[in-house]
Amino acid sequence: MPELDLDVHLTEEDLAAALREDARSGLTATPKRLPPKYFYDARGSALFEEITRLPEYYPTRAEREILADRAGAIARITGAKVLVELGSGSSEKTRLLLDALREHGTLGSFVPLDVSGAALRDALGQLHAEYPDLHLHGIVADFVNHLEVLPDSGTRLVAFLGGTIGNFTPAERAPFLAALRARLSPGEWLLLGADLVKDPAVLVPAYDDAAGVTAQFNRNVLHVLNRELSADFDPGSFAHVALWDEAEEWIEMRLRATRPMTVRVADLDLDVTFAGGEELRTEVSAKFRRDGLTAELATAGFAVRDWWTDRAGRFALTLAVAVAV
Ligand code: SAH
Ligand code: TRP
Repeated sequence: MPELDLDVHLTEEDLAAALREDARSGLTATPKRLPPKYFYDARGSALFEEITRLPEYYPTRAEREILADRAGAIARITGAKVLVELGSGSSEKTRLLLDALREHGTLGSFVPLDVSGAALRDALGQLHAEYPDLHLHGIVADFVNHLEVLPDSGTRLVAFLGGTIGNFTPAERAPFLAALRARLSPGEWLLLGADLVKDPAVLVPAYDDAAGVTAQFNRNVLHVLNRELSADFDPGSFAHVALWDEAEEWIEMRLRATRPMTVRVADLDLDVTFAGGEELRTEVSAKFRRDGLTAELATAGFAVRDWWTDRAGRFALTLAVAVAV
């Protein structure tokens, strides 16, 4: 019988406790902010999958194009025995890597890791049906705090796709990359998907689509707060805002109060007042340049082996190797 394991390092209770702390510090800060990992309850993960199919949201299609072209080379170069995926979500594009690594004959197991237990369970069920003879080892964990849980059983290739690296600020990126490097041995691999700096006329609609799916996704975090912390946010009174910050080279997502409000967060015994027009920052999505990303990886102890883009040059997939530091 092929194996399917699921390790839960982060229970719903752990996540709720982290949410209490992050909500208290973020909602009492100036300006107000929330960390991005709370978008991804079952509904949020489903909305994100819908985003990946929107005409305006090019990153998923661009990254899939690169993977389709390069998966064979990635398998040959790395000869990976274990494919780990951080922030795996549905692992939809990852099947291209799984197929290539199996064809190459080296792959022993796939280890998807995600903070969203709902998304991970769904993905594992489908993968198990499609790859009945592959050892699957799902991990519900936070890739910021729990990288020590990655199994160490043969040459690993760690995939971090979707441009999720951009959801860290630069100050968060450096320690994340260093912590990831510290878990790997020299010669193991990182496959990093990064969205590239481009015309804001292309970037902004990717985060503010005509059908309003991204707006629903952004507001979903308020539904999460209502449910998990017995808060009484009126999501309909917050407008979705996506803007390009030229200096930081990131897209910033905000929720703007369309009227003055006091929101009760009962489980925190906290009243949060919003002025009319006041904004809550929910996410950044940084965009990259080749030189900058190569330098950041070098600082963390990764040497870039390959840099591939889609034909339109919108998105980059970087294959980097852990080097002795
Ligand atoms: N890799 C997929 C999904 C990207 S969306 C793709 O390329 O389409 C980002 C994913 O990262 C979501 O599934 C979300 O649940 C997960 N995620 C966000 N923050 C996380 C964290 N701190 N730890 C682990 N997973 C996280
Ligand atoms: N990793 C995705 C990105 O930065 C996440 C994402 C897409 C997102 N659309 C969003 C996050 C809208 C918040 C709001 O592209």
